[in-house]
Amino acid sequence: MSTIAVVGTQWGDEGKGKAIDYLATRADVVVRAQGGNNADHSVVIDGKKYALHLIPSGILNPTAVNVIGNGVVFDPAGFFEELADLEKDGIDTKNLFISDRVHIVFPYHKVLDGLTEKAKGSSKVGTTNKGIGPCYMDKMARVGLRGCDMLDDELFRSKLSAQIDIKNDMIVKLYGEEPLNKEEILETYCDYAKRLKPYITDTSVLVYNAIREGKKVLFEGAQGTMLDIDLGTYPYVTSSHPVSGGFSTGAGISPRLLDEVIGIVKAYTTRVGAGPFVSEEDNEIGDKIREIGHEYGVTTGRPRRCGWLDLVVIRYAARVNGLTGISLMLLDVLDQFETINVCVGYDYNGQVLTDFPASLDVIGQSKPVYKELKGWNTPITGCRNYDDLPQEAKEYIAFIEEFTGVPVKIVSVGPDRDQTMVRAALFEK
Ligand code: IMO
Ligand code: MG
Repeated sequence: MSTIAVVGTQWGDEGKGKAIDYLATRADVVVRAQGGNNADHSVVIDGKKYALHLIPSGILNPTAVNVIGNGVVFDPAGFFEELADLEKDGIDTKNLFISDRVHIVFPYHKVLDGLTEKAKGSSKVGTTNKGIGPCYMDKMARVGLRGCDMLDDELFRSKLSAQIDIKNDMIVKLYGEEPLNKEEILETYCDYAKRLKPYITDTSVLVYNAIREGKKVLFEGAQGTMLDIDLGTYPYVTSSHPVSGGFSTGAGISPRLLDEVIGIVKAYTTRVGAGPFVSEEDNEIGDKIREIGHEYGVTTGRPRRCGWLDLVVIRYAARVNGLTGISLMLLDVLDQFETINVCVGYDYNGQVLTDFPASLDVIGQSKPVYKELKGWNTPITGCRNYDDLPQEAKEYIAFIEEFTGVPVKIVSVGPDRDQTMVRAALFEK
């Protein structure tokens, strides 16, 4: 097996960073293919926490090559900030390549992100305000600037200059706000372009050749299936394709080249921002999960909405991603419950739905159908082998496997690298 794709199965924040780190330490190449610095991937190594947003997690593995693929929206300001933080921590950042087809995030994208959200009022999405949506809008409108544009100073300046004029018109005439300082943006971003040149290349060729040579290539997903622009809870979604299909277009490789697709499942459910959430427990159960699981946004500090594990969602994610395995994260957060519920259906006016519906109205009016399982009610953070787990925890895992038809290949019981039980061969050294 040479390629593994890792996808979020829920609304993001499933603990992808940790599972990805396990695989990234064994990979030759690590590829990001969608999203941007709206992602928060935290990795804890020897008690030290690293926060990654745009740079692939393979950067913490000194021998891995890291690729930012064409499907990513690339924020140069965020990138250089992240790079500086890693270098300050003594991380070698040389092994890094950026696609010449990547779309660039500019300051006007971030401003427009905030303005469009404000205009939506109570129906706002609750975006991360990183300019993700407006940058993908420009890509689809065929007016975006790409990595390859940065390779020609003159061309880059003139294309950017024209875009700033158009966006300033929108900001002033449509939203009645002050225009952005054109000269300042031109100066800053022309300088970024010069500094980025050494990183920019045709990464589709790089990834293809690595796979052909039998190298271990890890595709690092950001966000989650329910935030997918097509398959998620639209319009409360991000603007990219966090599902496994997104790796093909976003890295510029054939879908036939993905050998294994691991779905990251948090042992319960959370979401940030607005949108329907059937198994939400907006009560003392949700509060207990939030406190034990430290469910607050890494960058924004926003409290996350919490609830029981929704297996309707996980079975849907298993189907649309073609999951070959599950990595079950944060199982220890459920250590202090007598009983644990899992959602096995949606009761919509007396009709039980088991396939995730498209309509937000239907989802919003659905009540969770719960199956009650016995809790283990004992700490499991010290378990290092699957056999050490209490019987009730094993039964919880077995129930997930049976309901989704996907084997649970990794179980995580804490943030540290050694709190990981691996039940299948994945990128063995
Ligand atoms: P990781 O990779 C959780 C959510 C935002 C918002 C919606 C749209 O850490 O799991 P955007 O800024 O992308 O236009 O916001 O998507 N969102 C995430 N939620 N984890 C993420 O990434 C997210 N990235 C975007 O909160 O509801
Ligand atoms: Mg997040």
